Amino acid sequence: MRVLVIGHNGQLGSCVVDVLQRNRSLAILGIDYPDIDISDPHSIDLVFGGFDPDYVINCAAYTAVDDAETDEERALAINGAGPREIADQCRKAGAWLIHISTDYVFDGTATMPYPEDAPPSPTSAYGRTKLAGDRAVQELLPAAHYLVRTAWLYGMNGSNFVKTMLRLEKERDTVSVVTDQVGQPTYARDLAEHIGLLLDKHPAPGTYHGTNSGEVSWYDFAREIFRLAGADPDRVLPTTSAEFVRPAPRPAYSVLGHDRWAEQGLPEMRPWLEALEQAFADGIASTVD
Ligand SMILES: NC(=O)c1ccc[n+]([C@@H]2O[C@H](COP(=O)([O-])OP(=O)(O)OC[C@H]3O[C@@H](n4cnc5c(N)ncnc54)[C@H](OP(=O)(O)O)[C@@H]3O)[C@@H](O)[C@H]2O)c1
Repeated sequence: MRVLVIGHNGQLGSCVVDVLQRNRSLAILGIDYPDIDISDPHSIDLVFGGFDPDYVINCAAYTAVDDAETDEERALAINGAGPREIADQCRKAGAWLIHISTDYVFDGTATMPYPEDAPPSPTSAYGRTKLAGDRAVQELLPAAHYLVRTAWLYGMNGSNFVKTMLRLEKERDTVSVVTDQVGQPTYARDLAEHIGLLLDKHPAPGTYHGTNSGEVSWYDFAREIFRLAGADPDRVLPTTSAEFVRPAPRPAYSVLGHDRWAEQGLPEMRPWLEALEQAFADGIASTVD
């Protein structure tokens, strides 16, 4: 089976390639910007023509959530038009598409985990552009896609909250973190394993929520990061979103339900704290100077 991984230098894409490489029966091509520009249909066409994939995993995206507020046109070209073109090429080639999406398609006003079929209503430019991509994938490949929504991703590559907290722990006496945003920290390696499961087990198409299970606030997550780093968790101080204003609104409750995995006879992803402990065992602390 021939698998094209778009965005293979990114936080998630790099883990996906690592995980899939264990399976010797797969021919894998990882590619990223500038060797492919998913906002350019001609660039996508060239890559498909040269590789002829059976499966495409699209991990590439415009992920600068705050910048998207003032750059929505560019974000839409990458997050909306890009996946539409990739899906169209998959349709023509008879290939399946695993497309990665986000909790930001929801407004975060829920009090219970969002089921896979909850109606989206994004409040940020990033969320709107990602939703445009999701809808294109669903429309063009109704029976040949997996839409995998994730959230609060961290891993060894790139910048993320865990690495920021580890750096700030070294630089400052205290760090203030919001208590009023709750979500599911997700270890990129775990999500890559579950994407591998979709390839192996080939369950029914549609939406799957790719987040570690349970829920926690950024504040309590930061405390666990300090604890695992051997630092005093009381150096993390509570603050609120009203005091820590960012250009893009953040969902207050970003917890995704995982029923679809069980319906398809597959395990959901493990609890977030177990995953964080694994990331420390894998050496995430040593990636920060
Ligand atoms: N990070 C999170 O917390 C989070 C949360 C929810 C959902 N997600 C979703 O999860 C997926 C993976 O996120 P991630 O954190 O792994 O992202 P990432 O580390 O930012 O990686 C994205 C990759 O896409 C590439 N890219 C950007 N524009 C491109 C273009 N026009 N053509 C081709 N490639 C392009 C980037 O290259 P450059 O570095 O050169 O720009 C980068 O290598 C994305 O769909 C994202 O929306 C992420």
